[in-house]
Amino acid sequence: MPLVTTADMFRSAYEGGYAIGAFNVNNMEIIQGIVQAGQALRAPLILQVSKGARAYANHAYLVKLVEAAIETTGLPIALHLDHGPDYATCKSCIDGGFSSVMIDGSHLPYEENVAETKRVVEYAHAHGVTVEGELGQLAGVEDDVSVNAEDASYTKPEQVQDFVGRTGVDSLAIAIGTSHGAYKFKPGQNPQLRFDILEEVGRRLPGFPIVLHGASSVPQEFVKQINQYGGALDDAIGIPEEMLRQAAKMAVCKINIDSDLRLALTAALRKHLAENPGHFDPRQYLTPARAAIQAMVEHKIETVLGCANKI
Ligand code: G3H
Ligand code: 13P
Ligand code: ZN
Repeated sequence: MPLVTTADMFRSAYEGGYAIGAFNVNNMEIIQGIVQAGQALRAPLILQVSKGARAYANHAYLVKLVEAAIETTGLPIALHLDHGPDYATCKSCIDGGFSSVMIDGSHLPYEENVAETKRVVEYAHAHGVTVEGELGQLAGVEDDVSVNAEDASYTKPEQVQDFVGRTGVDSLAIAIGTSHGAYKFKPGQNPQLRFDILEEVGRRLPGFPIVLHGASSVPQEFVKQINQYGGALDDAIGIPEEMLRQAAKMAVCKINIDSDLRLALTAALRKHLAENPGHFDPRQYLTPARAAIQAMVEHKIETVLGCANKI
C-alpha cells in the first residue's frame, strides 16, 4: 500500500466522532513504536516530520523509514510536513514524496497568510497532496520559533470561512488554548480550552476537519520518573485528556502529539540506564524506549483519539 493523504482519514474521523493521531517522528525507533501501536489497535496514523526532524535525520532517511513501516504493517499512513515554514519547504516535501503538508503562516499578517497558503495549495493539489493551514497562534516552542503566552492569540471564528474559501486548504489548525512543548501550564493553573471557539468554527465550516496542535498531556508519572533518574525537568501540566477526547468528538480530526512521546522515551531510557549501568549496547536501552513509545501511542489511541479499529 502506498502512502495515503489525510482526505479519507478525516472524512471518516469527522463522521465517526474520533480523531487521527499525528505523531512527530525523528528516528527509526520512534517510527517503529508508533506503528506497532497502530498495528496492535488497528488505527490509521499520521507520521509528521518537522523542519528540525528533516535537519536531524535527513529527508530521504525519514521517507524510506516510513515506507518500510507501511511495507511491514500494511497500515494506512500519511506522511505529513509539520509546521512547514514556507513555500520552498512545502514544495521540497511534496516533490520528495510526502502525502500531506502544513504551511504555517499563522505568524504572518492575515493577507500574507492567505497568499502563501493558497500558493502551497495550488502546487500540492496539482500533485495529489493535502494541505493544512493555520489561523491563530499557539504559545510555546516549535523548531526555532518561540511564542510567549502574551503573544499567543485565539483563532477568530469570523475569519475561518474566508480563509478556507480563498486558500482551498483541506484542514485548518486553530488556537483554542493548547500550546507547544512540555511546559504548558504551571502547577496550580487550571487548563481550559475555548470550546466555544471550536463550536463556532464547526458551525461556520460544517464537515470541515479541524486540527489541534500542542495537544500533549504531560503525564506526571513520566516527569517524576525522569527526575527520579537524574533529570531536571520543571513541574508543569499539560492538556487534560478528557478535554482532547471531547474535542475529537467535535470537529477536531487531527491531534498533534510530540512532547508526550519525548517524555515517555526519555523516562524509559533514564530508568533503564540507571538500573543497568553496565549497558552500552544501544539495542539494550532503545528496546524499552521503543516499547514506551508504543505504550504511549496505544494509550492515546484508546483514551484521547478514539480511533482504534477504524481500518
Ligand atoms: O510543534 C513542534 C513539534 O513538537 C516538533 O518539534 O520542531 O523540535 O521537531 P521540533
Ligand atoms: P506538543 O508539544 O503538545 O506535543 O505538540 C506537538 C505539536 O503540535 C506538533 O506540531
Ligand atoms: Zn504544532
